[in-house]
Amino acid sequence: MNGTAELIIDNKHLKLPMIVGSEGEVGLDVAALRNETGCITLDPAYGNTGACKSAITFIDGEKGILQYRGYDIAELAAKSNFIETSYLLIYGELPTSAQLAEFSCELTDNQMLHEGMRFLFEGFPTSAHPMGILSAMINAASSYFPNLLNGTERQTGFPRHAARLISQVRTIAAFSYRKAHGLPTIYPKSNLKYTANFLHMMFSSPNEDWVIQPEIVRALDLIFLLHADHEQNCSTATVRMVASSRANLFASASAGVCALWGPLHGGANQAVLEMLEEIHAEGDDGTRFLNEVKNKVGNRRLMGFGHRVYKNFDPRAVIIKEQCDKVLANLHKSDPLLDIAKKLEEIALNDDYFIARKLYPNVDFYSGIIMRAIGIPLDMFTVMFAIGRMPGWVANFKEVMEDPDGRIARPRQIYTGHTLRNYVAVEQRA
Ligand code: ACO
Repeated sequence: MNGTAELIIDNKHLKLPMIVGSEGEVGLDVAALRNETGCITLDPAYGNTGACKSAITFIDGEKGILQYRGYDIAELAAKSNFIETSYLLIYGELPTSAQLAEFSCELTDNQMLHEGMRFLFEGFPTSAHPMGILSAMINAASSYFPNLLNGTERQTGFPRHAARLISQVRTIAAFSYRKAHGLPTIYPKSNLKYTANFLHMMFSSPNEDWVIQPEIVRALDLIFLLHADHEQNCSTATVRMVASSRANLFASASAGVCALWGPLHGGANQAVLEMLEEIHAEGDDGTRFLNEVKNKVGNRRLMGFGHRVYKNFDPRAVIIKEQCDKVLANLHKSDPLLDIAKKLEEIALNDDYFIARKLYPNVDFYSGIIMRAIGIPLDMFTVMFAIGRMPGWVANFKEVMEDPDGRIARPRQIYTGHTLRNYVAVEQRA
């Protein structure tokens, strides 16, 4: 489809060019709307608004399709790993073995935090949520690289800074966990791969190294890979918004962590587990809880269900559910929360309330059960999401930075407050 759409406002005709994406989706270009007609579009929560053109990730929510740079998520999940997929997202192509080796070297070379950051960790109370620590420390890390803001360095230093961010977010996350649990810090090891190294920093002790369990490493690596990008969601749009002001990579990513934190977004994986624990503690099998959800008692929601874009199924949820069964079998663990989750899913998928609203399990519904089986504490779940999403944010930052037509993002509004009125001195106010 090519051509224009016509908009008629008060007999004034405006031709809106149709922009067609590589998978056939169509956008109406309204860039001339305000100048030509004085009107703007109003689309709270952006359900119908394309904020950018992007070549990174494609989603067809109706068909349950997710592709990174043209590769299907199921194929990447089966054949690739988190680091190779990160390279793909950031640089647009799967790496050659030389490129992959160079990328891995950059990750290893940049995995240590500046020693000065240790003192910053000391300042947080043990009650601090690791997402708050993560966001603050990513931003703080940028203070040690003042050249990040320098025009030339922004261009030429990008590969190093990108690798530094992806590598250090893992170190910061593990340090946050150790700090919150009063445990001594464990430094990364250069001979370990990305995900194994993270688990080592989380679970080794000064006297004894965590014994690498390949199936656990693989399960967590898969969780990172499945979260690596998801086009213009709340946090990625935030990263692009901040990047559009030419803030540095670390500042933009730190803003992304804050946006991800909320329970309607990345915080949902923690909220799912809390919900399952509550149902279990009440001796419910999920039936009573679902009735409350449907009757909107206390505005409860079935956490881990529903998605703004996926309206049939979330392809990541299908992969992760299978992985969940595998991990529990490998670890010889059973989990009553998994039984409740399966029961909730079974009831909800056959219930008119959920069917009518096209609510299906999303990626967070089962990922929490895997993380719990691995031994990752509840308040670190959203941090795992942030580690996984980092390459997607980096790729989006790069796209913003390289856009020759890029301008600072600046939405408009329809003002609904008072019209002009006169100031009244305080003693004369009623
Ligand atoms: N449980 C029960 N009802 C729900 C749920 C849910 N999980 N999600 C949506 N609904 C209902 C709403 O109450 C509303 O019902 P109504 O028409 O009777 O008022 C209808 O479905 C539409 O809901 P919206 O909030 O308008 O849908 P929206 O697209 O804005 O929200 C969201 C999407 C935020 C994901 C929502 O489905 C939700 O809150 N889910 C639970 C939280 C969650 O799992 N978030 C993770 C998303 S995936 C991710 O970020 C990685």
